[in-house]
Amino acid sequence: MSITQLTAPGDRRSEMMAEVRIGLTAYNKHLPSKYFYDARGSQLFEQITTLPEYYLTASEIEILEESADTILEVARPLEIVELGSGSSRKTTLLIEAMGRVGGRRYAPIDISEDPLRAAAKELGAAYDWLEVEAFIGDYLTDLDKVPRPGSRLIVFLGSTVGNYTPTMRHALFRSVRAAMQPGDHFLLGVDLVKDEATMIDAYDDPAGVSAEFNKNVLAVINAELDGDIPLGAFEHRTRFDSETGCMSQSLRATRPVTANIRAIDLAVTFEQGEEIHTEVSCKFDEGRIRDEFLAAGMELKHWLTDSRDYYALALGAPLA
Ligand code: TRP
Repeated sequence: MSITQLTAPGDRRSEMMAEVRIGLTAYNKHLPSKYFYDARGSQLFEQITTLPEYYLTASEIEILEESADTILEVARPLEIVELGSGSSRKTTLLIEAMGRVGGRRYAPIDISEDPLRAAAKELGAAYDWLEVEAFIGDYLTDLDKVPRPGSRLIVFLGSTVGNYTPTMRHALFRSVRAAMQPGDHFLLGVDLVKDEATMIDAYDDPAGVSAEFNKNVLAVINAELDGDIPLGAFEHRTRFDSETGCMSQSLRATRPVTANIRAIDLAVTFEQGEEIHTEVSCKFDEGRIRDEFLAAGMELKHWLTDSRDYYALALGAPLA
């Protein structure tokens, strides 16, 4: 088991300082969703994935339980490179299926070290035949720094790709394509457009876990950048934009707020009702993924959906 750092921690801190300043001084305030995920945020998100309303995880697991062997028989990789560290059921289904077709290596890449360590430890203990080589970095910029020892299946699950803007998504598909050789594959999990109420409930559960998760981005900024943003003055909001096919999450100030973020020497004010945009979660269909794969030099080889047609796994390969 090894862990390699692709981005220096100093770079990440100065990036966070810049991004928080840009986001909170913008006319339409926004914060990058990657800052949801400190230890508490990761725990809250894990909890979200077990909520009955958050159908995404269960649907993805259903497809993998049904089709992991088929996928791995098509791909036959030496290694699985996972964007984001899945220590969960999903990853174990893929790793076990990889083992059955002779694959030996698991290389997760994630921005934070703790979940990588946990995943590496857990998987290393469960599969003695598995080489785990983890990488700390941003998969949008660092994928080309991950060595390629042989044929690979790059996996990006959880519909995390939905959290990107179309421009970033294209950049991600291109960097995935650039990290592939002929014979390699890309497995992408995507949430599908469906009736609005089902999608809204998934992002606004009655138990309030989604709300707490959303607000955690403020807690992370307070902790990391010595801020005093009052979490209690913000409420969780979610809506679906049928034009773009995206869910959009924000935090709305329920009263006028003044806060200081001392590490970046920033005083920020919010009017009552003002929102901080925190995340988009775009929903897809097969045609769109086919087109976007093509635009990045990949062909869509398989499209696998769950029994309710809520969710899909797309298997892509480099165009000859
Ligand atoms: N990446 C997850 C998604 O898009 C994040 C998420 C789930 C989320 N529930 C949320 C973000 C609620 C903000 C609020 O599905």
